[in-house]
Amino acid sequence: MPAISATAPGKIILFGEHAVVYQQPAIAVPVMQVRAKAIATAAIGQASSTVQVIAPDIQINSMLKSLPIDHAISKAIDLTLKELAIEKYPPFSLRLSSTIPLAAGLGSGAAVSVAIIRAVTAFLGKTIPDDIVSQIAFEVEKIHHGTPSGIDNTVVTFAQPVYFIKDQLIETFKVAQAFTILIGDTGVKSSTAVTVGDVREAWQTEPEKYEKYFDACGQIAQQARDLIEQGNNDAIGPLMDENHQWLQKMGVSSPELDRLVKAALDAGALGAKLSGGGRGGNMIALVTPEKEAVVTEALNNAEAINTIKTIVGGKGGE
Ligand code: PMV
Repeated sequence: MPAISATAPGKIILFGEHAVVYQQPAIAVPVMQVRAKAIATAAIGQASSTVQVIAPDIQINSMLKSLPIDHAISKAIDLTLKELAIEKYPPFSLRLSSTIPLAAGLGSGAAVSVAIIRAVTAFLGKTIPDDIVSQIAFEVEKIHHGTPSGIDNTVVTFAQPVYFIKDQLIETFKVAQAFTILIGDTGVKSSTAVTVGDVREAWQTEPEKYEKYFDACGQIAQQARDLIEQGNNDAIGPLMDENHQWLQKMGVSSPELDRLVKAALDAGALGAKLSGGGRGGNMIALVTPEKEAVVTEALNNAEAINTIKTIVGGKGGE
């Protein structure tokens, strides 16, 4: 049996993080420059129906049955086998790697799950439709996030720009005119489960105030979708700034994120905001091709530990 490999991209949230947990629309796009990869290979000489999991990045080299049952990797494999209704299978090893930074708002957990689901399925000679792949990844996301909205698993599975409303049918949409986003990493690891939990607590304490914030972010996401579909890209920038201000009010920005956002704007970005759970991880900036180099330099000078350029709506989703 040949080795089977599957990959899944990272993602950024352009608009609407946190508010999306409260049924507001949000926009997310894949980031093809970073990927998670899973390679399934027949393990000759091993006992039937066993899986060896090799994930050097996170120091795992272990049989599946020795991993905790609620570990994200075992959950992704177990749910896939359950979906395929397979109990007996040839032994195989699953080697996992990823260039997506962990706990940084770039969808690393969802991408690893999707790569696992696809590699295991293909290795066993089966197929699973994308909506089921996304559903399985969503179940695994619950381990990482507690109460995820489902946006990460959706955008990572479909690898297309999505306009996402929790518990509604997935909407992909067209990007009329490609635009460039720079992603700046603060280097600060931050748990999405914690920020989502804190926002929930704050909302429970001051529901009216927080619902106003969520509504405002939802309206921004709607307007942004219209602008993106019209190709009115310059007008997207101010909406990013506005969205960042609402996220600051929600308490999910941080000095490091604010520093990178300011550096990008001062250097001529059309707009900038945090992306994902916040309090660390990555921020994003919209730039024209002329400003790309100078904004990248400004982000580096402001101590971004890494920058990634991604073109939304570019060929192959680059
Ligand atoms: O995985 P992250 O850090 O990109 O966060 C996902 C976005 C949130 O809206 C904060 C949470 C969610 O489940 O939608």
